[in-house]
Amino acid sequence: MTDTLDRDDVVRTLEREHGEARVQAEARRQAREADNTANSEPPAARRTQRDFRQAEHYQHAYLAIGPPQGALLYMLARAAGARHIVEFGSSFGISTLYLAAAAEDNDGRVIGSEYYANKRDHALGNLADAGLSQRAEIRLGDARETLGDITGPVDLVFLDGHKPLYLPVLEGLVDQLTPGAWVVADNLDHFDETPGDFRHEILRDARFTTRLMPIGRGMFSVSRYCD
Ligand SMILES: C[S@@+](CC[C@H](N)C(=O)[O-])C[C@H]1O[C@@H](n2cnc3c(N)ncnc32)[C@H](O)[C@@H]1O
Repeated sequence: MTDTLDRDDVVRTLEREHGEARVQAEARRQAREADNTANSEPPAARRTQRDFRQAEHYQHAYLAIGPPQGALLYMLARAAGARHIVEFGSSFGISTLYLAAAAEDNDGRVIGSEYYANKRDHALGNLADAGLSQRAEIRLGDARETLGDITGPVDLVFLDGHKPLYLPVLEGLVDQLTPGAWVVADNLDHFDETPGDFRHEILRDARFTTRLMPIGRGMFSVSRYCD
């Protein structure tokens, strides 16, 4: 059986979108460098606190995972046989493509979430290009509301939206998690480890076994639900 991640339409769509994301990230990096005020740019931990409704920062930026993170998400979902997958923060849908490819192989489904309509529409276009539309929906609006009525079961959660909301979004889903479910979160390097923040809490949460994993340009936390 061919892995869906290797299917031509999926490979083509991912290559195109990763390429666009790389070009955009490089342009943003150069613009920051050229900007005299770049030195006053707050560090990652403080940038992370910016409100996700600040359109200029979030509405047009991919802010996407790279291929190594995508491959890990795909393999975790495949290994778990995850059929019920939830994503907080879909953006243009790169991570959603990896999750939907696993859902195709597992006969499952992804529920994604995105605050901006232009991003949600682009992500739906990518899913169509990859032949995966039937494997994912992307709910439009604030994920605290749009993911609030999920009644479960949930086998895998990917957290990649506004960082201060990782904990409330996860708490809203935790009762729906199946034994052995995976919770993966991106950008753990953006957190100060202080009580009340996600990094601090997830590492100490007895309901989960958690490891931090530097992967690609990012830092994932990978947690297994033990309840
Ligand atoms: C880091 S990007 C996600 C990248 C995406 N997971 C990928 O790898 O392709 C974060 C996204 O989460 C969205 N977001 C942040 N807070 C949100 C919220 N409360 N509800 C819905 N979407 C949110 C932002 O608009 C942004 O597009």
